[in-house]
Amino acid sequence: MIEYLTLEMIDQTTDAVRSRIQAPPRLGLILGSGLGGLASAVEDAVSISVTELPNWPVSTVPGHVGRLVAGKLEGQTALVLQGRTHFYEGYSMAHITLPVRVMQRLGVEILIVTNAAGAVNPTFEPGELMLITDHLNLVGMAGHSPLRGPNLDELGPRFPDMSRAYDRELCALARQVAKEHRLVLREGVYACLAGPSFETPADLRFLRSIGVDAVGMSTVPEVTVARHGGIRVLGISGISNKANLDGDTITTHEEVLLAGEKITPQLITLIRGVLKRL
Ligand code: HPA
Repeated sequence: MIEYLTLEMIDQTTDAVRSRIQAPPRLGLILGSGLGGLASAVEDAVSISVTELPNWPVSTVPGHVGRLVAGKLEGQTALVLQGRTHFYEGYSMAHITLPVRVMQRLGVEILIVTNAAGAVNPTFEPGELMLITDHLNLVGMAGHSPLRGPNLDELGPRFPDMSRAYDRELCALARQVAKEHRLVLREGVYACLAGPSFETPADLRFLRSIGVDAVGMSTVPEVTVARHGGIRVLGISGISNKANLDGDTITTHEEVLLAGEKITPQLITLIRGVLKRL
């Protein structure tokens, strides 16, 4: 078990990626469950299987293929991670965020994180997009932060500010694009739970009462590390299911993946639109 990352470890993985790609990426993109289709939008693509990279936390989850795709998106150099790794798979918080550290070392300035999420806000519908305006770091509050352990001062400060985790300018661009393309873009607070079990109705009523709009099992560790490293973040949830606040419906991973396929075209439109305006 890799509990903490060292700079040597990060740079070993970074060098392996650097040796395979043509240009340093300005943009990082992490694709959530069922949203991997976005990787096909990358031009001049070089694809790297993450199993070829030293130290990489390889994902075991269906719907997460484990590929890095480097190339261009709307003229921007980009590195796209198709298939993230989750805490519930057994890796440490620091280890699952190695991809963000690699992006930071390669010079990424903007990270776009996407995920599939359950709608806790009763007005949200499956198939809609939600702009993440803030998050609730429940797992971090319980002690599991990717920044726990010795601080790597070369990468960021011991106590990073999180008051504007989701970049206001990027949020404004996303709103503009959604309006122009008539996309439904909800907004709200994303809560990260450790999973892998979905929530009980009581969990969900609790989340609703503390101001959560959408719930999932990812993103927050990556955003925490990105902000520590000074990377600007745009976060988008694809609402895959209505959370089961009354216990009348069940949630399955298959449902989440299927919804992702429907959401992908809207997500591509939104992200392309934002990139055009950068
Ligand atoms: N709960 C937690 N994670 C999820 C959900 C959900 O309902 N949908 C997609 N990811």
